[in-house]
Amino acid sequence: MICNSLCKKTEKGRIRMFKVTFKFGSGEDVTTFAQEGENLLEVARVTNVAIDAPCGGNASCGKCKVKLVEGELHSPKTRHISDEEYDEGWRLACVSKITGDVAVEVPDIASAYRSRMKVADLSSKKEIAIFEKAKNDLEEAGLTLKNSMGILDVSMEVPSLDDTMPDNERFVRAIKKTTGASKVRLPFQVLTKIARVFRESNFEVRCVIRTSDEGDIFCI
Ligand code: FES
Repeated sequence: MICNSLCKKTEKGRIRMFKVTFKFGSGEDVTTFAQEGENLLEVARVTNVAIDAPCGGNASCGKCKVKLVEGELHSPKTRHISDEEYDEGWRLACVSKITGDVAVEVPDIASAYRSRMKVADLSSKKEIAIFEKAKNDLEEAGLTLKNSMGILDVSMEVPSLDDTMPDNERFVRAIKKTTGASKVRLPFQVLTKIARVFRESNFEVRCVIRTSDEGDIFCI
């Protein structure tokens, strides 16, 4: 249903969006939508799906393997994928581009990592103590804990008859003003919610963001 409406938009010259499904060993699926040509590893990142990618997407470590199980991907064969693996559907996420609706299996290591993240209980004093000790040990060793995720409170002007700016534009402008970022990206799953969420919250929202090395903001 959603795909049909997006296809009609395409005939009018709009951006083509495709359904991307990440499948896990647990039987759980995570579904999102991505633009034609988007990088699969980046789609996974903005969707909060953990894929092991120690080289950061440079196609050099060979760790970001996923298995194509339905649909299509533009994904050249690399030295990290044998002929046999390629025939079985294995692809490197970091060199794969979205060309249509697609479903990929995410290997167990990422599935386990994702599950661990989900069940970690930081309301437990014991787990907080373990976390604090690990943090102190790292700091004493001269290392700092750092990640690209963050929480951002965004306040927008409420629309009026004199101010009819579209919600997505209003949101992007407010994020740019708050962060100083020059580029802000709102994934499809965020766009589908903002009209309702903004009006329920009187245009005061808190969002989870990821900042790229270039300073671009991805609203998750
Ligand atoms: S992230 Fe290292 S090869 Fe894809």
